[in-house]
Amino acid sequence: MMKQIAVLFIVFILSVFITVSFGFRTANKNIGNVVSLNIENANTGQKIPATMHGVILETNVNRDDDGGLYAELIYNRAFQENNRSLDGWSTFGQGSINLNISQPLTSALPAQLRYSLITNSTSVSGIRNSGYYGINLQAQNYTASFFYRSLPGVYVPGGKLNVGFSDSTGQIIYGISTLDISKAPINIWFYYSFDIIVFSAAPSTKNFFFIEFPLGSKGEFEFNLISCFPPTYKNRPNGARFDLAQTFADLKPGFIRLPGGNDLEGPSIPERFIWNNTVGHLENRPGRRGTWAGYNTEGFGLIELITFAEDIGAVPILAVYAGYSLDGKAVPQDQLQPYIDEVVKELDFLTASANDNRMGALRKQLGRSEPFDIRYVEIGNEDWLGAAINTYDYRWTTFYNVLSKRYPNITFIATTAKTINSPPAVDDHFYQVPLFFIENFRRYENVPRSGPRVLIGEFAVINDDDSQITNPFGPGRLVYPSIKSAIAESVYRIGFERNSDIIIGGCYAPILQNIDNTQWTPSFIVFNTSSVIKSTSYLAQKMFGENLGNLILYSAATNNTITHQSVEKGQEGDGKLGNLYFIATKRTNDNTLIVKLVNVDPTDILINAQIQGSTTSSTGVAYILTAGSGVDPSTVQNTMLNPNAASITEQSVSARNGTWSITVPSWSVVVVTLTL
Ligand code: AHR
Repeated sequence: MMKQIAVLFIVFILSVFITVSFGFRTANKNIGNVVSLNIENANTGQKIPATMHGVILETNVNRDDDGGLYAELIYNRAFQENNRSLDGWSTFGQGSINLNISQPLTSALPAQLRYSLITNSTSVSGIRNSGYYGINLQAQNYTASFFYRSLPGVYVPGGKLNVGFSDSTGQIIYGISTLDISKAPINIWFYYSFDIIVFSAAPSTKNFFFIEFPLGSKGEFEFNLISCFPPTYKNRPNGARFDLAQTFADLKPGFIRLPGGNDLEGPSIPERFIWNNTVGHLENRPGRRGTWAGYNTEGFGLIELITFAEDIGAVPILAVYAGYSLDGKAVPQDQLQPYIDEVVKELDFLTASANDNRMGALRKQLGRSEPFDIRYVEIGNEDWLGAAINTYDYRWTTFYNVLSKRYPNITFIATTAKTINSPPAVDDHFYQVPLFFIENFRRYENVPRSGPRVLIGEFAVINDDDSQITNPFGPGRLVYPSIKSAIAESVYRIGFERNSDIIIGGCYAPILQNIDNTQWTPSFIVFNTSSVIKSTSYLAQKMFGENLGNLILYSAATNNTITHQSVEKGQEGDGKLGNLYFIATKRTNDNTLIVKLVNVDPTDILINAQIQGSTTSSTGVAYILTAGSGVDPSTVQNTMLNPNAASITEQSVSARNGTWSITVPSWSVVVVTLTL
């Protein structure tokens, strides 16, 4: 008996300890708050634009384009990395490689790899490339190509080369193709394009792409633009890596801001994004030094970027260069004209008819007859930062005056309104702690409606420690987004939807992070050569993007201290009640009620909802993202080692005569969808 009492006592003490020590522990039975939500059903009211929740595709940061979304497998395919080098290339068997610049392939690609076998080889020999941090080999067809030039006096027994994939030892061959080079004229660049079939997937990504010369070969052989692609998203030649592109598309992004970010501006004025260097044949694209990492091949250039936007169903928000680069230099006012002409040509190229415009005709010649649909153009990037602010007034004004006259249907977005007169729209950026986004929930309610529309072109929780609100880039910078960060971002997103009369949309930044070459954390989608991690922030935005209403329904939250009648605009009960944030919207095309609820309270909240005047009885779905009862939301992150720590769960919701209930767990985002 004494023993049983002792055991019971220990159990009691332990349960008290657990309850006291874990502030986040709340079982559904212990619902701390009960909230009534009154929703008015209507068919008119404030509209939400389809652009509301978008993405940014920055070229270069975290190797998100070359080595990332751009599906090219060969690293340093034209020897431009590290100020011209053979980085990523090596030999096997015999022979040596060096860079050669005589008789270049094109002026854009001025250096080629020369492979030299001084005496007849006594083993199979050749060159190989280890890819961007490895090569992911699956059982599928790969499309390879290169330019080849043999110098006088070469000898290749049988006149054939083998090109394929091997493991890191070169002993296991995953796929091989034989090329007849006997007909290639001596001393002239010759183009080869061919397939390599891989019949079974390689167990690791430590693999090589190789070009192999048979035993007995001799001479000097040159190569340039050595390229190899797996199947791409929507089978676009020179296209996007399938898994990453699909991860973008799954978000149902309303817009995509591109090509930057800082990489638009470039490290210096000549190294800016120059659109016409990014279109046309790959051998005519010179590329440029990346702002964050390595070299931009610009293989995924302007047409590829905007086509990608179309392929994932997102409205492009095109950023154009505005005369300022990251070395702090601005183009003087009296020298801006050529830069404006450059943008005019870019916009003509994208939007003009192919029949009566030279640039439109060029677009057609490059394979795209129909103009692209460009509705938003941002002039510059972050011109409130550093020395950029000193010159943005004349740069914005000069660009805007010309562009707005020529393209009256485009909304031009300024990067700051600090020094310029009421632009049509402005791009706000915030990298902050959770508390900032929670406390600023009503930020856009207080913005004058006579002023610019707003794009939140970059925002993210980058530090979960609220005490770092004045120094979020300081100690505690996140490696991965957590549930806490995703929930705080969701509060802000509800604010975007509520203010959709002036907000064009918002997007987390940066989106992509190659784990093998990272300059910025946290990021939305983390990847390596073979896998893709969807962060908690990604999951939260997915719930918003997939469930976007087009009409706001008036709703008010009340509890035992607030009545429905006492709720005033912008006050408790309107969009927010204590630690609960909410919005009710309707998707009119299928008559669906969408209620978004975010709880930043350490206790669960029971919502009793009433759709006013409704007798609807239907069953819907609630999508839930939470750390789980009793778990500190800062500790839950989807990482490379634990990619599925957090996931979206589903629960059914039943409405009877227009009333329904749901428990919104502590630190969670819940999206309820019900047929009205
Ligand atoms: O998203 C990362 C960087 O943050 C962007 O390149 C820049 O615009 C901002 O400073």
